[in-house]
Amino acid sequence: MAELKFDGKVAIITGAGGGLGRCHALLLGARGAKIVVNDLGGAVDGSGKGSATPAQNVVEEIKAAGGEAVADGNSVSTEEGAAGIIKTAIDNFGRVDILINNAGILRDKSFAKLTSELLHSVLDVHLLGTINTSKAVWAIMKEQQYGRIINTTSAAGLFGNFGQTNYAAAKMGIVGVTKVLSIEGMKNNIMVNSLAPGAKTRMTEELLGPLADKMRPEQVTPIVAYLAHDDCPVTGEIFSAGAGRTAKIFVGATQGYFNIDVTLEDIRDNFAKICDENNYAIPKNAMEEIGMVIPLLQ
Ligand code: NAI
Repeated sequence: MAELKFDGKVAIITGAGGGLGRCHALLLGARGAKIVVNDLGGAVDGSGKGSATPAQNVVEEIKAAGGEAVADGNSVSTEEGAAGIIKTAIDNFGRVDILINNAGILRDKSFAKLTSELLHSVLDVHLLGTINTSKAVWAIMKEQQYGRIINTTSAAGLFGNFGQTNYAAAKMGIVGVTKVLSIEGMKNNIMVNSLAPGAKTRMTEELLGPLADKMRPEQVTPIVAYLAHDDCPVTGEIFSAGAGRTAKIFVGATQGYFNIDVTLEDIRDNFAKICDENNYAIPKNAMEEIGMVIPLLQ
């Protein structure tokens, strides 16, 4: 089978100055895509005045391997910053085909100690960042009838993790954004998926414990690149990748208990049936989930 290539495609990768984003940028760049390496160059918690060096270093790496790339230092967390990132792509390469929303910061705190500043700064980068950049490319992708967007979520949002209310809210919000954009983008060939990665980076090296050395960004990037490719066969899905395991994560619904005149005691008496995960369904959208009741109403 032929190698998957990205010739003629332009990809923006946010937060690509290091970690996972750098790895995504290197693979797509090596396979022929022209890359916008966006990165603010701040610390893991988003502090510091930023630096152009990390993004520029990745640009040099891509060029040294024979690829084409340009650095961008805008922040995803404002609409102006996001517009600036898209402008960098258009000014340098004339189009945008792929957007990988990867930029992120971490400001963990148990809920009792969570401050408004810790909450909003994390929502701004992850959730609003993803919305801002997607919004800035949306009209372009619609117009050209082509787009691939990959949003970075996290197991912390999908399954929960101590001390990460702000991060989990943002990351699960990103899943909602992914689902809605996938539905709205369908008729324009814009495919939008999300990925929950697991890899040793500066963000996680102290969190992953003994598994850390088995978890390389290079094991995460292949699924991201596939979702960014012309051949991507799905939209609106969530994937998980880490330590060489790549899997799909989904939101399902049990068949449930039906009684048109349901009472409080009915809920108590039928709770096991409500929770019975046998024959669960995976609705494709909200109407499909609500519609699960239709056959029961006949
Ligand atoms: P990282 O800290 O190496 O990379 C994040 C990059 O985003 C940094 O280079 C940072 O400068 C950049 N950034 C931060 N704020 C920005 C802004 N406002 N505008 C532009 N760039 C900005 O960490 P890592 O691990 O590579 O994280 C990448 C993504 O993967 C993040 O969204 C993170 O939440 C997510 N993730 C990572 C996991 C892991 O195991 N490494 C697990 C789950 C999710």
